[in-house]
Amino acid sequence: APDVSVKRVKAHLAALQDIAERNGGNRAHGTPGYLASVRYIQGKLEKAGFTTKLQTFTFAGATSHNLIADWPGGDPDQVLMVGAHLDSVAEGPGINDNGSGSAAILETALQVSRSKLKPGKHLRFAWWGTEEAGLVGSYAYVNSLSRAERSKIAGYLNFDMIASPNAGYFLYDGDDSDGEGEGPGPKGSATIERVLRDHFKKLGVPTRGTDFDGRSDYGPFIAIGVPAGGIFTGAEGRKTKAEARLWGGKAGAPYDRCYHRACDTLRNIDSRALARNTGAIVHAVWTLSR
Ligand code: PHE
Ligand code: ZN
Ligand code: ZN
Ligand code: ZN
Repeated sequence: APDVSVKRVKAHLAALQDIAERNGGNRAHGTPGYLASVRYIQGKLEKAGFTTKLQTFTFAGATSHNLIADWPGGDPDQVLMVGAHLDSVAEGPGINDNGSGSAAILETALQVSRSKLKPGKHLRFAWWGTEEAGLVGSYAYVNSLSRAERSKIAGYLNFDMIASPNAGYFLYDGDDSDGEGEGPGPKGSATIERVLRDHFKKLGVPTRGTDFDGRSDYGPFIAIGVPAGGIFTGAEGRKTKAEARLWGGKAGAPYDRCYHRACDTLRNIDSRALARNTGAIVHAVWTLSR
């Protein structure tokens, strides 16, 4: 898989920060900042040759959208999906949560285009709306699919908070190998976890499992039996001593002290985690779509 430039990912984050600043400080459900975020990403994807569409839904009296982008080609009966939520909470600009996942999968999609990738599977990227109100956009998407369409989704990769300033390297625990997860996800989830884990292993970065409990947009997918996986660098939880020995950073401090706060800005990003995780996403997309 090709190398990706963290500079490009950061440029997308700067654009999202700028959008928040020009729209009252956030990119939350039902706000102009959310819509501007969608338009920013859609514009880049259209230029790169993706077919994009907006799925519109309403929540609490306000309209929202999922942005769905298809890369032409690949087996239509085997669809690999890659998603991240694009909405922030109302408290702040949401740059780690979840500008980080949104920007990393955008850059991955743009790299697919630059590489003129011809994957065996059909590739579909999704930026979800209204995650922060309870996975509303991703549920709307999954609920809109027929049984036949559901059965064609070969896998779903989710990225929500992948550049926490006191980062851990957590993988959704598809095989429950460390025994601390919620038990194995749908069959095939272990393969996704292994592909990600192998990539980090080559970098010399150990990973740990994190609960497969549906706290992000993979929830609706595992609920219908789609194999899923992804990376998470931690939210309000605190890094343990053992984790600080493993990864560096500050033991006893939250992974993200600005989680759901106004200080979740461009400064609330660990560039090294962002670079490593974007590289892992590209590797996983290349490997799993073959
Ligand atoms: N979904 C949570 C949020 O957006 C963050 C989270 C992601 C928590 C992944 C656990 C696992 O606030
Ligand atoms: Zn959040
Ligand atoms: Zn989130
Ligand atoms: Zn595992």
